[in-house]
Amino acid sequence: MTVLVTGGAGYIGSHTTVELMEHGEQVTVVDNLQTGHRQAVPDTKLYVMDIRDTQKLTEVLHQYRVDTVVHFAANSLVGESVQNPLKYYENNVAATAKLLSAMVDARVNNIVFSSTAAVYGEPVRIPINEDDPTTPTNPYGETKLAIERMLRWCHTAYGINSISLRYFNAAGAHSSLPMGEDHEPETHLIPIVLQAALGQREFVSIYGDDYPTSDGTCIRDYIHVMDLASAHRLAVQRLRSNGQVCESINLGNGTGFSVQQVIEMARKVTGVDIPAKYASRRVGDPAVLVASSQRARDVLGWQPKYADLATVISTAWNWHRTHPYGYQD
Ligand code: UFG
Repeated sequence: MTVLVTGGAGYIGSHTTVELMEHGEQVTVVDNLQTGHRQAVPDTKLYVMDIRDTQKLTEVLHQYRVDTVVHFAANSLVGESVQNPLKYYENNVAATAKLLSAMVDARVNNIVFSSTAAVYGEPVRIPINEDDPTTPTNPYGETKLAIERMLRWCHTAYGINSISLRYFNAAGAHSSLPMGEDHEPETHLIPIVLQAALGQREFVSIYGDDYPTSDGTCIRDYIHVMDLASAHRLAVQRLRSNGQVCESINLGNGTGFSVQQVIEMARKVTGVDIPAKYASRRVGDPAVLVASSQRARDVLGWQPKYADLATVISTAWNWHRTHPYGYQD
């Protein structure tokens, strides 16, 4: 039995590939390297191809006797999705429809899907529960929600079993292997703060200081990438042992930190007095996003190992400090 990881050369995909391999799984990765990095995956495991190449994908599914797909391949920039929504409908929704067709043809019935907290839009309560309203405020969240719904219909029609994992703010890096976050452009808070610590940016812009939070800056639920990875491994196991599953599960720690608190912690971890300046709000940012992680704990038996912010930031710092230009070094 093999797990096929789509988008396995990306940030969360590559960490999940390592986690699966470290737990004895046979893994094959497909990635078109549009945003992923060849160096993030062992050469022998990687097929450089697009998931829309149905013929080749069906061959790979057969050749490796794939029983479960873990599907990361997607575009994931909120701002870009507002500028160019059709790219997101094409690369996220249409490409996933093709992947599912190949799975139906090859009789592969299990899929773990990379979803997002962006499906909730502006939350109606904190912590956010999986049954809360889903009203995305951007095409990125909208396309991820469309895929979750597509998976439900495919469960009814073709018996495809799925677990959609709704990530909150992924951060951190593997604690011993040379792998970490490397996006171009970088838009996420923690790498930006650490780039400022390295002197690669003059300062960090804090987007908004007038939110209804204790220090006026936005609050997010930062989850370590290896805790995300272990949740994917548990989801693969659940699909194999339970079958007949079609569900969505939040992945966050259930604790929020403000932008100000993240910068403070990064100053402590790095020993650098990272310069920061207030800037105006970024359009579409909710004030607070914190997950209820109860379902992940109950259903998957998931236990985060790296839940404290200091560990999240110090593993990220170790990566950025030793690889200031990411995978280019
Ligand atoms: N922020 C800054 N300055 C920066 C970058 C970010 O103040 O230079 C703030 C943002 O305004 C936000 C917080 O830091 O309040 C976190 O921002 P990120 O861009 O790191 O992450 P988001 O919360 O915007 O995005 C995350 C995921 C997305 C997902 C979204 C759901 O990365 O994939 O949550 O809303 F869509």
